[in-house]
Amino acid sequence: MTTSDDNWTAGDAYESYMGRWSRPLARTFVSWLSSPPGANWLDVGCGTGALTCAICELAEPASVVACDPSESFVVHARKALRDGRVSFVVAGAEDLPGGPGAFDCVASGLVLNFVADPARAIGLMGGRLRRSGTLAAYVWDYGDGIEFLRCFWDEAVALDSTVADLDEGRRFSLWQPEILNSLFVGAGLCHVAAEILEILTRF
Ligand SMILES: C[S@@+](CC[C@H](N)C(=O)[O-])C[C@H]1O[C@@H](n2cnc3c(N)ncnc32)[C@H](O)[C@@H]1O
Repeated sequence: MTTSDDNWTAGDAYESYMGRWSRPLARTFVSWLSSPPGANWLDVGCGTGALTCAICELAEPASVVACDPSESFVVHARKALRDGRVSFVVAGAEDLPGGPGAFDCVASGLVLNFVADPARAIGLMGGRLRRSGTLAAYVWDYGDGIEFLRCFWDEAVALDSTVADLDEGRRFSLWQPEILNSLFVGAGLCHVAAEILEILTRF
C-alpha cells in the first residue's frame, strides 16, 4: 500500500465518511492552538476545507491560503467556503504556495501520515513560516483510539478479507504523539508540544 493508493477525488463522499469527524476535530484543534487574531495562515492538505473553515470561524485570520494536491477537493472546498479572506490553491506539501517566511501560522490536519516523506514536508512547511511563527499539525490516533474507523474497518475486513491491507489502523499505527514530536524537533523547531485532542463522535 502506498500513499498513491489513497483516493482524494470525491468531496461529497469524503464529507459524509470523514468530514463529519474531521470538522469537529479541526475546531477543537484551532481552539487548542489559540493563535492570535489577524494572522496569515497556510492550510496544507486542506481537502474539502474542514480546517480552513475552522480557522475562519474561530481564529479571526487576516488571510488563509489553503492548498491541496487534489484538484477536485479544492474545487469542492472553493464552492463550500466562500470567504474573502480565503484563497484555495492546487498544491501539495512538496510545492507549497507563498515564499519563504510568508505566513504567521502554517497548519495541516490529517495529512502527514499520507505524505511520502513527512520529515521533508515539515521542513518545507517550516520554510514558509515567518520568524517566531507557529507550525502545527495533527493526525488521527490510528494505533489506539479512533473508534469510528476501527468499527468501519473491522466490519469491512469481516465482509471482505482482501481489504485488510487498506485498514488505516494497520497502515498508520506508528503515528503516536512521540512521532509527531520527534518530526517537529528534527525539523529544528523550538517550543514543540504534542498533546492528545479528543472529540465526541455522535451516532
Ligand atoms: C484525510 S484528508 C484531510 C483533509 C482535511 N485537512 C481535513 O481535515 O478534513 C488528507 C488530505 O491530504 C491531502 N494530501 C495527500 N498527499 C498530500 C501531500 N503530499 N501534500 C499535501 N496534501 C496531501 C489529500 O489530497 C487529502 O485532501
